[in-house]
Amino acid sequence: MTRVERFLNACRRRPVDCTPVWMMRQAGRYLPEYRQLRAAHGFLEMCRTPELAAEVTLQPVRRFELDAAIVFADILLPLPAMGLDLTFEKGDGPVIHNPVRTRADVAALRPIEPAAAVPFLLDTLRTVRRELDGKVALIGFGGAPFTLASYAIEGGGSRHYEHTKAMMYGDPLSWHRLLDKLAELCVAYLNAQIAAGAQAVQLFDSWVGCLSTHDYATFVQPHVRKVFAALDASVPHIHFANGAAHMLPQVRDAGGDVISVDWHVGLDDAWNVVGPDRALQGNLDPVTLLAPQPYLAECIADVLRRAGGRDGHVFNLGHGLLPSTPPDNVGFAVEQVHALSRRAPAHGPGHR
Ligand code: CP3
Repeated sequence: MTRVERFLNACRRRPVDCTPVWMMRQAGRYLPEYRQLRAAHGFLEMCRTPELAAEVTLQPVRRFELDAAIVFADILLPLPAMGLDLTFEKGDGPVIHNPVRTRADVAALRPIEPAAAVPFLLDTLRTVRRELDGKVALIGFGGAPFTLASYAIEGGGSRHYEHTKAMMYGDPLSWHRLLDKLAELCVAYLNAQIAAGAQAVQLFDSWVGCLSTHDYATFVQPHVRKVFAALDASVPHIHFANGAAHMLPQVRDAGGDVISVDWHVGLDDAWNVVGPDRALQGNLDPVTLLAPQPYLAECIADVLRRAGGRDGHVFNLGHGLLPSTPPDNVGFAVEQVHALSRRAPAHGPGHR
């Protein structure tokens, strides 16, 4: 079984030879070869240069037996084409210099045409897909409407999302118009990535965990549902709603063939809530990758024990790798996942 088949089979809840594994933020700052390139180039410049972005996408796959590569890009890359002025500031992360606060700001946002807005991303995907040569699966990704809205409205990262919630509660008409526009953007952005060679796509709703179940159902879920319904169904869709263990049924109902769960909930409990008709992705605490290897191995075994050998488990972290992660521990973790989950070999048709 190739690594591509292993990953895609798991997404489709079909049998695998062992559990496939990839890690959110596997391309990035914990790798010295990334930091070396980054010393010479800005982050957005790297994303916008297909040779560099392809190289960084491939770096973790060269080092480790990962089953999938995730394209080096960012959820915020399509926002400038809508009219938002995005920069990445040293130490501060992303900044949007003209945040969306009023009805007029929402009305001024333009729809995007991916081939014009992010041609570099589509080039990167085509290059990586060719380089991977059918050996490792390629994942595309985008930000979900709520998470994108939180950056657009706050103008950057946030702790309490007060401007975001102020619009949601105070001007629901503008809120829903904004989320409509962002949902449309998600569909265009992800479908273009699929057309360029992504073999699965992940929707990151990284900050939606700040909402109550009721607010999620009222202000967010209808928009996410529209996104999943409009995605090209020839590839699996992964839905990562971070910090959303309290509203897994609502997240599941919004869509996704694979529900990606953070580490706060046991994978067995999460699966009982989500139900048997979805695959699950997760959910090792990324900080365990900083622990001594025997302890890390126990944590990996625990996640696999909770998955219970069911078809439809994609091993991942509960959130992204930390920049302080020792690369050797990533390699160790990948080997452990494969070794500990190895299924008994099937003998020919006569023996089953
Ligand atoms: O997973 C991967 O390896 C693919 C690459 C990837 C990046 N961003 C590269 C990146 C992915 C999947 C993302 C998604 C992303 N971007 C999210 C959702 C993911 C999640 O963790 O839930 C969010 C919220 C963003 C927005 C963003 N980009 C922030 C808040 C920051 C700054 C904070 C930080 O983590 O550095 C970025 C910058 C960013 N995106 C870096 C990388 C490798 C660091 C850039 C650098 O080298 O300084």
